[in-house]
Amino acid sequence: MGAYQDVFTASLADSSAFWAEAATAVDWTRKPQRILDDSRPPFYRWFPDGELNTCANALDRHVEAGRGEQAALIYDSPVTGIRRTYSYAELLEETARCAGALRALGVERGDRVVIYMPMIPEAVISMLACARLGAVHSVVFGGFAPNELAVRIDDVRPKLIITASCGIEPSRVIEYLPMIEDAIGLATHPPMHCVVVQRNGYHRDIARGRDVDWAEMMAEASPVDPVPVAATDPLYVLYTSGTTGKPKGIVRDNGGHAVALQWTMRHIYDISPGDVFWAASDVGWVVGHSYIVYGPLLAGATTVLYEGKPVGTPDPGAFWRMINDYSINALFTAPTALRVIRKEDPDANHLAGWDLSSLRNLFVAGERLDPDTYHWAVEHLQIPVIDHWWQTETGWAIAANPMGLQEFPVKPGSPTKPMPGYDVQILTEDGTESEPGREGAICIKLPMPPGTLATLWDADDRYVSSYLSEHPGYYLTGDGGRIDEDGYLFVMGRTDDVINVAGHRLSTGAIEEVLATHPSVAECAVIGVPDAIKGQAARGLVVLKAGADDEDLVTDLVKMVRDEIGAVAAFRLVDVVPALPKTRSGKILRKTLRGIAAGRDEPMPSTIEDASVLAALRAILTRG
Ligand code: COA
Ligand code: AMP
Repeated sequence: MGAYQDVFTASLADSSAFWAEAATAVDWTRKPQRILDDSRPPFYRWFPDGELNTCANALDRHVEAGRGEQAALIYDSPVTGIRRTYSYAELLEETARCAGALRALGVERGDRVVIYMPMIPEAVISMLACARLGAVHSVVFGGFAPNELAVRIDDVRPKLIITASCGIEPSRVIEYLPMIEDAIGLATHPPMHCVVVQRNGYHRDIARGRDVDWAEMMAEASPVDPVPVAATDPLYVLYTSGTTGKPKGIVRDNGGHAVALQWTMRHIYDISPGDVFWAASDVGWVVGHSYIVYGPLLAGATTVLYEGKPVGTPDPGAFWRMINDYSINALFTAPTALRVIRKEDPDANHLAGWDLSSLRNLFVAGERLDPDTYHWAVEHLQIPVIDHWWQTETGWAIAANPMGLQEFPVKPGSPTKPMPGYDVQILTEDGTESEPGREGAICIKLPMPPGTLATLWDADDRYVSSYLSEHPGYYLTGDGGRIDEDGYLFVMGRTDDVINVAGHRLSTGAIEEVLATHPSVAECAVIGVPDAIKGQAARGLVVLKAGADDEDLVTDLVKMVRDEIGAVAAFRLVDVVPALPKTRSGKILRKTLRGIAAGRDEPMPSTIEDASVLAALRAILTRG
């Protein structure tokens, strides 16, 4: 048996012993005596009597251990030309002061703070400062529109919002303050204060009284010590798209999260203290939470915050320049980023001149790594390219090739094997565990390991109905797939109405809700269709009301989605169709629509009786 098999088997045979051992890598203010509380299934709590502070584990203890001068955070912003490195001592100093300032504004343990920010160091400092106080942060991705921000504000009810004067995209400046104003106007539970980081050269007027200037706040603040919290206290709430328009607030605890992430840094990513780890994602996504902010810092590594794109800032050599400049040891990105680099630089000419000898592994996740992109990356980088599969809900990889434990030969198209603690099963429709090779719903037998979601914010019932009811005793991932005879998992895609555009998770239901409000639209459906670069794109199909005018319709609908959901939806494809296929009970058959749009010969239901209508619908769908 190899190292992996021993570890994996041990993790399932005696999960308490396994995670108790992993928990010794964390500094506890009260060491947990109980490892798993399984007294209230399907709710499970890890380390129920443990007490710790996540920020102290990410910063203070490294400084105390003599690593204060080591780089903790490297900020590189090609969109502004700014580069800055924070040592552990500096990052701790800023974070402790920020925590003091937040406390002076009334933030205490258990209070929520919404963070709506671009990729600047203050975003990381704000998150860590919340953790230091035992407050709960909820980061909202900057590409979401005010309405989406308002929905999250009303759900999580923050005491304050931390934001910046603007975000800087290569094509334009994103003005945050008008969006904050709109969101606060829409929200029924507005925060008491907004803290605003004024970006260099982009000072904006703020509403004195309610609004607080970050720099002034920091100048007056005194540093505060970390507040010990229960391991089961929430560290953050991160909203993600479900099948409906209402996002799900994934709740992450402190203790399980710290234990699990540390385990992954060493065993999955092969990262030790002092190594440089770069997750080219955004702090608004789970990858940013786990692997820009918490994972690398918990591990005593150096993390990288990159405010740029894979291409255009300034060219497709941007990632290679970063690796060269900071001697990066591991890069984590989304397959989309590799596809867009490859499109602009198919022969990877932009690699020339950069020293990539520090880079040991390239990790990808967020969407399926297609074999073509895999082969391209391996050919040009000549290092292991590791696909791994996970979700906002789990916070860390469900399946991976654990490079710090045992490297497996890669099977392109597979994220390799289940990670410790994840009893992955493929369930058939009647809920039985299926044998190797058969496709079905990918489920995880409960309990899931530490670090996975504890529940949904203020919605225990929805947590159960969304994930745990379909197959009692199992967590439903929402992905379909199979396990082959060698134990490799193959993830084939979502089985629900969630889509993945450029590694960004979106709800087709949310887009439909926007389209349906247009006065000319009688009914609509939104499906994910294949896109060569972004993996998937959202495509809208609308049926018009009798006599409705469709002039400007497409432009209007595209604008509505951008205004209501945000630029991140990248919604551009809309077609008027004569009818939508439905079940007898009136449910729109999105699966049939997806199948036809993807070129499969799906049978149309008998609810559309007119052959010419059917033919027209087919023609529109297959036109692409
Ligand atoms: N704030 C505000 N707007 C944002 C934003 C942010 N943080 N991020 C993206 N947007 C905007 C973009 O400017 C774009 O607007 P536009 O329609 O006016 O051009 C829109 O949202 C769509 O963005 P995106 O889908 O990211 O497309 P893009 O063309 O800007 O970039 C890639 C394409 C492939 C370079 C980019 O999507 C990428 O780097 N993807 C990697 C995905 C990733 O990191 N996923 C996280 C999981 S690992
Ligand atoms: P998110 O919650 O945004 O991380 O999105 C999670 C979803 O993205 C998963 O349920 C999958 O559908 C998809 N996904 C993430 N990583 C992978 C991967 N490595 N392979 C296939 N699909 C993936």
